[in-house]
Amino acid sequence: MNYFEYRDGEMHVENIKVATIADEVGTPFYLYSSASLIYQFNQFKEAFGDLDLLICYAVKANTNQAVIKTLANIGAGADVVSEGEMRRALEAGVPPSKIVYSGVAKSSTEMKFALNQGIYQFNVESEPELFQLSKIADDLNKTADITFRVNPDVDAKTHAKISTGKSENKFGVPWTSVQDICSKAAKLPGIKLVGLDLHIGSQITELDPFEEAFTKISELVELLKKDGHDITRLDLGGGLGIPYEGDDFPPLPREYADMVKKVVSHLGCQIIIEPGRFLVGNAGILVSKVVYVKKGEEREFLIIDAAMNDLVRPSMYDAYHGIVSITQSDEDSKLYDVVGPVCETGDTFATNRLVSPMESGDLLAIRSVGAYGAVMSSTYNTRRLIPEVLVNKDEFAIVRPRPSYTEMIALDKLPKWLSK
Ligand code: LLP
Repeated sequence: MNYFEYRDGEMHVENIKVATIADEVGTPFYLYSSASLIYQFNQFKEAFGDLDLLICYAVKANTNQAVIKTLANIGAGADVVSEGEMRRALEAGVPPSKIVYSGVAKSSTEMKFALNQGIYQFNVESEPELFQLSKIADDLNKTADITFRVNPDVDAKTHAKISTGKSENKFGVPWTSVQDICSKAAKLPGIKLVGLDLHIGSQITELDPFEEAFTKISELVELLKKDGHDITRLDLGGGLGIPYEGDDFPPLPREYADMVKKVVSHLGCQIIIEPGRFLVGNAGILVSKVVYVKKGEEREFLIIDAAMNDLVRPSMYDAYHGIVSITQSDEDSKLYDVVGPVCETGDTFATNRLVSPMESGDLLAIRSVGAYGAVMSSTYNTRRLIPEVLVNKDEFAIVRPRPSYTEMIALDKLPKWLSK
């Protein structure tokens, strides 16, 4: 379902005209649709039917409290990778009993915090982490339910920077040493081994890599059960891709769920999944204004008021995002390079892109930016972080305001010797 639709030639999000929100909020800003978040979550849930399933939203994709709460209200748990994310999830109403904690470098302080909250599980990635967690849990007189993140050495066939399941990647325990580390874990105080987990990468657009990895991990579960471990949970990570315009069409949730059921249901484990992008990616656009239209020698540039610091994916991963005018036009589209104001050539959202003819002051939307958009933004060039706005049917709310310049500059503190 697309909740960003044109009506009478004007882009709406749910029942509100994007231009109306832009008038009130000022550009650039992120704009999210509640209906889209809810639709995506329900799609996933329904696809799995009555399988014993816990959907833990990977909050790193979009940590806005309003987004997490929208999903928590309909039953989502959370996959977190830091104390900060854990605090956000708890504050947004995710119960500790639905929080799984991933990450290669959990610190002692973070472990203590998580144990005191009583989170559902730690996804442990290495032997040193296992020993550290055992010591801290034992000192606190608590037991940590753990899974081991398995590195299955599978090529996820996605962008190299977001591929995580190959043996050369820093993530997880090599699948060949899993039995060994599990027998060590069984002897440690403060630790209860409950399962295995994996996450092989992000924006995966084929089922095969998932199936290969899930098959490997299922075989490991069987071996561990034979070794006498009580394996009750299997966490399959996130990674299911979304359609970015111009990209391959990824598998549907139903196809993904059918494959999961085929591969793992005989194990009788609770299945946990950690989708991020799938839940929030297509629920957001970035609304920006054309500052100048500049004719270069070879190309025409749309210089817009959003920049790489607001949305880094195109410069960081050469990611493709659809770019459209928020007003439909009868005129033929033109080829533009869409660029931002930052002083780097990498500050480019698209090259040679067909967009309907635009003038200074016109508004455009960069699509599919609900995931890994606002969360990866920075204040480079001393540009203020941009607001986030959430729509719910006929109403909208600014769910993160634009900070003032004073607030931004006040974050720095002058040392004594410079403050006179
Ligand atoms: N679980 C773990 C342990 C993860 O590391 C991730 C994402 C997820 C779940 C959620 O994956 P998803 O369903 O969103 O694919 N910044 C990059 C994406 C980095 C993903 C990192 N890990 C981008 O903009 O494409």
